[in-house]
This record gives sequence, structure tokens and C-alpha cells, in this order.
Amino acid sequence: MASIDYIVKAGGPLQGTLKVAGDKSISHRAVILSALAEGQSVLTGLLEGEDVLGTVNAFRALGVAIEGPIAGRLVVNGVGLHGLKAPAGPLDLGNSGTSMRLLAGLLCAQDFATQLVGDESLMKRPMERVAGPLRLMGAVIKTGREGRPPLEIQGGQPLRGIRYALPVASAQVKSAILLAGLYAEGRTTVIEPAPSRDHTERMLQGFGYPVDQDKAAISVVGGKGPLTPGAWEVPADLSSAAFFLVAASVVPGSRLLLTRVGMNPTRTGVVAILRAMGARIEVENETVVSGEQVADLVVSASPLHGVVIPPALVPLAIDEFPAIFIAAACAQGTTILHGAEELRVKESDRLAVMARGLKALGVAVEEFPDGLAVTGSPLQGGVIDSGGDHRIAMAFAVAGLRAQGRVEVRDCRNVATSFPGFVEGAQAVGFDLRVMAS
Ligand code: S3P
Repeated sequence: MASIDYIVKAGGPLQGTLKVAGDKSISHRAVILSALAEGQSVLTGLLEGEDVLGTVNAFRALGVAIEGPIAGRLVVNGVGLHGLKAPAGPLDLGNSGTSMRLLAGLLCAQDFATQLVGDESLMKRPMERVAGPLRLMGAVIKTGREGRPPLEIQGGQPLRGIRYALPVASAQVKSAILLAGLYAEGRTTVIEPAPSRDHTERMLQGFGYPVDQDKAAISVVGGKGPLTPGAWEVPADLSSAAFFLVAASVVPGSRLLLTRVGMNPTRTGVVAILRAMGARIEVENETVVSGEQVADLVVSASPLHGVVIPPALVPLAIDEFPAIFIAAACAQGTTILHGAEELRVKESDRLAVMARGLKALGVAVEEFPDGLAVTGSPLQGGVIDSGGDHRIAMAFAVAGLRAQGRVEVRDCRNVATSFPGFVEGAQAVGFDLRVMAS
């Protein structure tokens, strides 16, 4: 398939209003729970990115009739908790770790076998973290070499509830265990070492399934269904908005309004970190939509300074570090991150790929096993390899706005996994960004 590169040059201030793409995490869960509900659900604001389309297509292959998406609207004719059918072949989940891990939890409880595969990046990602606890529940799952995909799920096993302390804060693993727990005998409890995004817990309750939370322990009891269908609005994705929060902060004279952005408190670490660096971000029109906090964000340019990122904020900003490192490169002084070894097992090794890219632009970076220290410096032009990672591609597009020469970001095709309208949105607010097919 042809590769896509971005060519970015520094330019004038960024101005305007933008609604970024729908929230990826919420979109996946809305599709999954609607498919398991008894009857028709209508989802609006859905992310039409490849990752979510991967989940949609997986449920079509599992026998669920789904219409759309058209302009973010998806109609899902849920089949009930026990209505899924054996797919004709392996389910290909593309680049999407969320799809593979959440579906592993759901599919190990079905009475048929499934095989889960993905693209080159997903086939390298760790899956024992999810297979291990599901086996403790009675599931039969085989992972590939070194605990990676493909996942071979046997199905047809009775599951029993477990009490499981997560070794790392992972919403994907938590969600997989809770989804399996809907089918397990008795109570399933997941104990988190630190809070991770809680969309699954909120949405299960929104679909009428009881979830209890006692401090860090989150529980479901099997067999309490059915899930009741309904209408769900997906907010704009703060993880996608993050690139614009950084861009408007670092380009002098900028001011952007980002509308209807999800502001779930388990996701807002990026706002806290950027504000601690001196960013001017105002939160307006706060409301609650489909059980999730939503607000408009107004961001204006302001001088940034380096900070030591508090470890407690790491899981609350885990997907936003590529953008935060660009803010750090444009700040005065040094920004230090530790406690983020998880970044090495995302769509790429984000610590290594970001360090390499920042160095290529002349930024002083020190790499630790679990983080980076980034010292703000004038950015030069250069050629960056995104490593096929959507968030790294978008982060370096933002870096190009402050570089003294042109920045070429290679291998940006996967931006379509999470933010299909990124280029158009960026150009509309004033990025000097061109796309080249190579
Ligand atoms: C996600 C959880 C996080 C995050 C990912 C989406 C989710 O992954 O990085 O982009 O939707 O549950 P981990 O569970 O691996 O932390």
C-alpha cells in the first residue's frame, strides 16, 4: 500500500473552531455493548477511524447486523449476551490493541472458537497480560511466540469469577476481564494499581448492567443481564484534541476553540500537565453526555516551561505523551518523565521513536528505560520516521509548526486509525501541512 508523508512548515497563528474526531475508546465500547444489548442502539459521533471500523467489522463477522457508519451514525441491532455466532474465519483487528484485548475477554466466554490477528504492529504487542487472567477464569487461550498474537481462543468453557490485581494500570486488560466477568459464575473483581480510563464501567451501567466500585476494586457479577439498548453520543476525543492543544500553545498568537471534547477525569492528565507547563486552556460549557463529561476547550498561545511530570498523572495521559514531548521541546527548560515504561509497548516503542525523532530536529533528549528528559531548544527541519504510529505522526506534524526548516514526517498512513480528518482539520485552522504519497 502507498505510504503517506506529511510536509509541514512553520507559519502564522492557528485560529478557528474545530470538532476533532470521536473518542476512540468510547467508540469501541459503544459498538461492543450495543452488539450485546437486546435490540437496536443508535450511536452518534462515532469515530470512523480504522480501529473502530475493525471492531464494527468483527461484530458483523460475529453475526450482528450493523448499518453505517454514515457521518458518525451507526445503528447496531444487538443480538443479546448469548446471540453471537461463530465467524467464518480469523478476525483481523488491524492496528487496534483495544479491539484485540477487549474482544479476547468477550470471546473466551462464547461457545465457539475464534482466532484474532492484526497488522504488523499489533502482531508484536503483548497479549499474555490479558490471556493470563482470562485463563485464571477458566478460559482456554493460546498466544503466539513470546505471548504475542495470534490469539487462539477455544471457547465453550464455563468461566468462574476471579479477584485479580492488575500488575500495570491498563484499561484494556481491566475491560477484558470485566467483559468475561459478565459470563462468569459469581463475582469478578479487578483491582487497579492506579486509576485507568473507566469508560467500560460507566457504559456497562448505562446499558443497565450493575458494576460496583470500592476504591480501586471494580466488580461485576455474572448473569445479571440483559443489556438494554439505547441512544449514545460519543464525545470528541481528548487524545486527538491534544495535538491541537499543544499546537495552539506553541505557535505565537494562536487561539483555538475545540468543541464537545470528552473530559472524563481518568483522561484529563494532558490538560493538567500542559497547564503545569504554563499552557492557557480554559474549559467552558461543561456538561454530561451519555454518562461522560464533555466540554469546549479554548486554548491560547503562551510560553511553556519544563516540568517534572508527577507519576500519578502517567496513566491519565498515557496516549498523549507524543504530543506532550513536542510541548516539552518547545518549552524553556527540561521536562522529565519517569514511570512510563508502558509507552514502549504501544503502537510503537514511543519512548525510542520520539527520542529519535526529537534528536533529528536538534532537540536534546535523554532516554530512560521508563521515560524521557526533553530540553526545550530551537527546532530544526528534518526527516522523521513515525514508526507507523498514528500519534507520533501527528505529534511531529505539530513540531513542524515551530521548526526552522521543513519537517517531513514519513509513514503517516495510520493516522487514519484514530483521526481520519486530521489533515483537513489541521489545514483549516492554519497548519502549513501538505500530504505526499510515496
Ligand atoms: C485504551 C487503553 C490504553 C490506551 C489505549 C486505549 C482503551 O491502553 O493506551 O490507546 O481504550 O482501553 P492500555 O490498556 O494498554 O493502557
